[in-house]
Amino acid sequence: MRILHPSDGPEVDPVEAYLDDDRPAPPGRPWVVVNMVASIDGATTVAGRSVGLGGTGDRQVFRALRGLSDMVLVGAGTVRTEGYRPPQDPVEPMASRRAAERRAPRPRLVVVSGSLDLDPTLPLFTENDLGDPAPLVATVSSSPADRRAALEPLAELVVCGETLVDLTGLLATLNDIGARTVLCEGGPHLNHQLFAAGLVDELCVSISPTLVGGVGLGGRSLLDGPSLAVPIRLRLHRVLSEDGFLFCRYLVS
Ligand SMILES: NC(=O)c1ccc[n+]([C@@H]2O[C@H](COP(=O)([O-])OP(=O)(O)OC[C@H]3O[C@@H](n4cnc5c(N)ncnc54)[C@H](OP(=O)(O)O)[C@@H]3O)[C@@H](O)[C@H]2O)c1
Repeated sequence: MRILHPSDGPEVDPVEAYLDDDRPAPPGRPWVVVNMVASIDGATTVAGRSVGLGGTGDRQVFRALRGLSDMVLVGAGTVRTEGYRPPQDPVEPMASRRAAERRAPRPRLVVVSGSLDLDPTLPLFTENDLGDPAPLVATVSSSPADRRAALEPLAELVVCGETLVDLTGLLATLNDIGARTVLCEGGPHLNHQLFAAGLVDELCVSISPTLVGGVGLGGRSLLDGPSLAVPIRLRLHRVLSEDGFLFCRYLVS
């Protein structure tokens, strides 16, 4: 065992730490990172939203991971509750690195929705920078035609399945259009499917020094779905700490 806290270890710039991590894309799909904040008892929301769990360090990690990603994947449930906006410009040194690598200045948002129950007046659709590609919405062929028609002028719709979005197929499509690193920002329902299908390479969890209760009584943990066929063993790569928060980076294999 090893003492991690209290520690007199060196100060670390979280942006540089996350930026310098190795993320080799597997064959045929991008490297997939899941990033979530959770309480000590495993809750991912307070009164239905994640904001009550976060802090300064958590926001730094959130921005660092966005800044290094080509696409930000998110479930429609999270979009409906968290008030999603288009990703902002990354801070330095990520902005310069992206420019040097001739990558888009900001990641592109990809929303997964079977129902297309997404309000076209949401900022993620209306506040997109004119120079940026429209957000992608991954949906199914059975989605309602009127909702598709309402979103088509504001988003690029990708049909990936009949009743459920085939996430393996979606990641292959994102790979084909140039994504090498995809950041999934939840929620628990989408996370569960990605892990169950073996599509996650990295899990970043910010553990908030908070107890919330309610998990199992309607409250959500990191994964929302049935027990996995086989538990997934994660490898701890790094832990950073600030203000009582732990910022854990795990690798899946
Ligand atoms: N603590 C954190 O870091 C964090 C992060 C994110 C979210 N959250 C919280 O988590 C909650 C939302 O999570 P959630 O699990 O309910 O929702 P979610 O995973 O964000 O979204 C679920 C929705 O995504 C769509 N979807 C997901 N997989 C699909 C598939 N394979 N095919 C078609 N559609 C698919 C469906 O949308 P349609 O219903 O439109 O078909 C489904 O209802 C919110 O309370 C949010 O605040 C917390």
